Amino acid sequence: MENKRKRILLVDDNMANLTMGKNMLKMFYEVYPMPSAEKLFDCLDRFIPDLILLDIEMPEIDGYEAIRRLKSKAVFADIPVIFLTSKCDAGSELAGLNLGAVDYVFKPFSAPLLLKRIETHLLFAQQKTELTLRNENLQAAVREKSRQVSKLETAVLNIVAELVEFRDSVTGGHVSRTQRYLQFLIEQLQEDGVYAEEISGWDLDFLLPSAQLHDVGKIAISDTILNKPGKLSEEEFDRMKAHVMIGVDAIERIEASTEEHEFLRHAKIIAGTHHEKWDGTGYPWGLSGGNIPLEGRLMAIADVYDALISARPYKKALSTADAEAVIEAGSGNHFDPALVAVFRKVADRFAETVRLYRDDPAEAQEEARRAPEGDEHVLIFERRRAAV
Ligand SMILES: [Fe+2]
Repeated sequence: MENKRKRILLVDDNMANLTMGKNMLKMFYEVYPMPSAEKLFDCLDRFIPDLILLDIEMPEIDGYEAIRRLKSKAVFADIPVIFLTSKCDAGSELAGLNLGAVDYVFKPFSAPLLLKRIETHLLFAQQKTELTLRNENLQAAVREKSRQVSKLETAVLNIVAELVEFRDSVTGGHVSRTQRYLQFLIEQLQEDGVYAEEISGWDLDFLLPSAQLHDVGKIAISDTILNKPGKLSEEEFDRMKAHVMIGVDAIERIEASTEEHEFLRHAKIIAGTHHEKWDGTGYPWGLSGGNIPLEGRLMAIADVYDALISARPYKKALSTADAEAVIEAGSGNHFDPALVAVFRKVADRFAETVRLYRDDPAEAQEEARRAPEGDEHVLIFERRRAAV
């Protein structure tokens, strides 16, 4: 019963062969006789058969050319083709099989043998389809599992970043805002083709959320230093600087217990280099210029800008215009001049983000909610903040 529903195209320029073939096959299959390869391709525009029986010697398009065309189009390439021909030398048979035919049958043929071969190849094709489908289902299941694990990781990271932010007495939103700033800068870099080669290797779905760990080392810094209203002593400032290496160590420990991952690679670079300065006077490595990884140079601008517009126990918040001026003044000493030039172009987007968070935190949350999928971490973070 199953076989009767299978559709076979029989292609032969000899009408007697077509009639005989149809009579032989029609008890078991739906048979469509085609007197030429041109007619075969016309028919393929209407439906995809389960198998093609193909003559070789035909005028215009011969069987070899027909199978070449079939194999060159993905939509037809998997249709099993059996050559049915009077060319019974070994060279012709080999040529036919090399072109991708599943079988090669000489005329005159034994009807029961041909039927058996057709049945076998239809079974193979069906098993191949089932295997492909099973494979696709398996891949979908793995993707879903990975998505769930990724969501769980994001949620844990959000909580860690949140704990750091609350300990630092920073008025909310620093973590999510700095990610937005990074996104603005990177989008502009992409548009301008600046540092295009370095950026082309980045996946923002990993890089942007990785930035939230930039100050994770502050967990180990005492409250008296973090929230000191006055200026830090030299000793206290040294202790504060240690947050960079503490953060790097923490991320390395995560790396050691898992496989190398782009997310952790970016996270470590950002945590480890966001306090470096273009002129080499930053910490902890004292790197300068292009020796500072691009992620760290970008985060330096995002982090400093947000620190400037935020109120801290020891200072008031600057206006966005004043913060922009400080970033400009830092070009070539604190910051990469090429990145400051890019910042200039997106400074309005920075200011708009700040305005949104200052004026209407609920709208800021909504803005985060509208962020692309890669910014899901922002949404989760904001929801958590709203719930606290
Ligand atoms: Fe920091």
